Amino acid sequence: MRAVEPIRWSQEGVVVLDQRRLPGEVVYHTYTDYTGVADAIRDMVIRGAPAIGLAAAMGVAIGVEKSTAKNPAELRAQFSQICDVLARTRPTAIDLFWAIERCKRTFEAAASDAGRNGAVGMEKIRQSMIAEAQQIHQERRDADEAIGRFGAEFMPQSGRVMTQCNAGALATGGIGTALGVIRIAVESGKKIEVIVPETRPYLQGSRLTAWELHQLGIPLVLITDNMVGHFLKTGNIKAVVVGADRIAKNGDTANKIGTYPMAVLAREHNVPFYIAAPVSTIDVSLASGEEIPIEERPEAEVTHIAGIRMAPDVKAAHPAFDVTPARLIAAIITEQGVAQPPFTESLRALAAQKSKSGTR
Ligand code: MRU
Repeated sequence: MRAVEPIRWSQEGVVVLDQRRLPGEVVYHTYTDYTGVADAIRDMVIRGAPAIGLAAAMGVAIGVEKSTAKNPAELRAQFSQICDVLARTRPTAIDLFWAIERCKRTFEAAASDAGRNGAVGMEKIRQSMIAEAQQIHQERRDADEAIGRFGAEFMPQSGRVMTQCNAGALATGGIGTALGVIRIAVESGKKIEVIVPETRPYLQGSRLTAWELHQLGIPLVLITDNMVGHFLKTGNIKAVVVGADRIAKNGDTANKIGTYPMAVLAREHNVPFYIAAPVSTIDVSLASGEEIPIEERPEAEVTHIAGIRMAPDVKAAHPAFDVTPARLIAAIITEQGVAQPPFTESLRALAAQKSKSGTR
């Protein structure tokens, strides 16, 4: 079965599935300017770390394609503005900044070639940026497949596994990271039932993960977030597998709020806790998770559900992510292989392998 596509490049513009409307409605928007794509990322029309990066790359491509610049020098000034606007959307997922950096390198290479070639040069830059976005999309698909294959080995032959938030096709543009692992395990014959916490406040678990698993025909049980401890204690859960938004050099991992208590409870009940994420999610510039910037989202996402007020007009907090310390993580599953503790060494080895294979 083909994975649902959260985003794609088309002749008309960047086509994005509106994840705010799922599971009730399947609605696509076509963005024809980069500010629209930036708003879509900020407002969570599209979300999930790898998909955010992919959206940024397509945002850069549409910004360059629709630019009014008459020559590469003018375009360069607009390009930097396009990148800045897209970079200011969501601070935690490193994939956003990784994708923008890649686009910058591609732009520099194309612009230096285009230098004196007038209109032909401008067209070459435009084509290079579109090709780069499409290349990133293909790499996301390939990475998810590889993560899925490596990760499936860690899934039980039969029984229950737990996940958090949505790390599926909707979050990546491929088959998903954590859900890709589960999907490949199921396709290889493992009999898995997935315990899906609803993931308040934005409900990525109930609205998106439950929807994806249901579409794939993978058995699931939806629970509320305050049932996580009970199920890890009594529910015969064999493993937890979640995605990641940013992984520090020592393995500390930022993921959707609620992941950290899940990891603590998994340790308490001897359930192995796995991270599944592409190597682009590893931020080697950060020594530990304490340095990961945590996005604060609007209070209204806590006080309201689907526009209906659930609390009086009081102060509310919405840190969108928490950080799970490396000591609670059994393994980090990437497309380059599986890192096991101590992560400082194993993640460094994966990064080295990555540069040897020439993967960007
Ligand atoms: O706020 P979101 O929905 O963008 O957060 C998503 C998550 O936390 C995911 O678990 C993470 O990005 C991994 S996606 C493969």
